[in-house]
Amino acid sequence: MTTIKACIFDLDGVIVDTAVYHYKAWKRLANQLGFDFTEEQNEKLKGVSRTRSLELILQWGGISKSPAEQEELATLKNTWYVEMISHMTPSEILPGAKEFLVACRAAGLKTALGSASKNSMMILEKVDIVNLFDAVIDGNKVTKAKPDPEVFLKGAEAVGVSPAECVVFEDAIAGVEAAITGGMKAVGIGSPEVLGEADLVVSGLNEMSLEKLNALAPPNPPR
Ligand code: BG6
Ligand code: MG
Repeated sequence: MTTIKACIFDLDGVIVDTAVYHYKAWKRLANQLGFDFTEEQNEKLKGVSRTRSLELILQWGGISKSPAEQEELATLKNTWYVEMISHMTPSEILPGAKEFLVACRAAGLKTALGSASKNSMMILEKVDIVNLFDAVIDGNKVTKAKPDPEVFLKGAEAVGVSPAECVVFEDAIAGVEAAITGGMKAVGIGSPEVLGEADLVVSGLNEMSLEKLNALAPPNPPR
């Protein structure tokens, strides 16, 4: 019988809602370049790396920049983003996230972070939950972006659990795909219309429980 032994959490949109800060910083950059983009377009940036996000935004604005200029623009955006997240407090942890992490650990499960963000550590420190993770795999530790499963496979390895015994929590389609490709169970955080591929979809970690988690493991084989 497979039992769940580890939970791997995406950060942005699962544990904290940093999407608004990413949006403000990208919008400021686009406006500075002389165009704007919609909140709908912004949705397409969920779970997408910094470099790829910039490429998409420049494409929407019909602007082309050299690789060196793109590097500069991404750094500028990140400077504004970091300034905003430097003011984050524990009150910005999404409802139920901390409680679920604590419950998992109390039940003996390993917990890991699997995020594309290179700012993950700073955010975990600001909201004061670093000690709730056995491993942190972030954008600095991976070379392939979601939907490649690298970030989650490294998370599983870091906590010494096989992929089949891991459950991934993700708010982005690419992240759910990454979990499935990696041979893990996926819990979508958001709406079933968007994250239908996941094994279970909940609106937030406040809807999760250890019972729901264990129900994701296949039942005992018949004797
Ligand atoms: C993801 C976010 O978690 O991290 C994306 O959903 C973001 O919006 C990506 O672009 C990279 O984050 P950062 O902090 O390294 O720019
Ligand atoms: Mg996310």
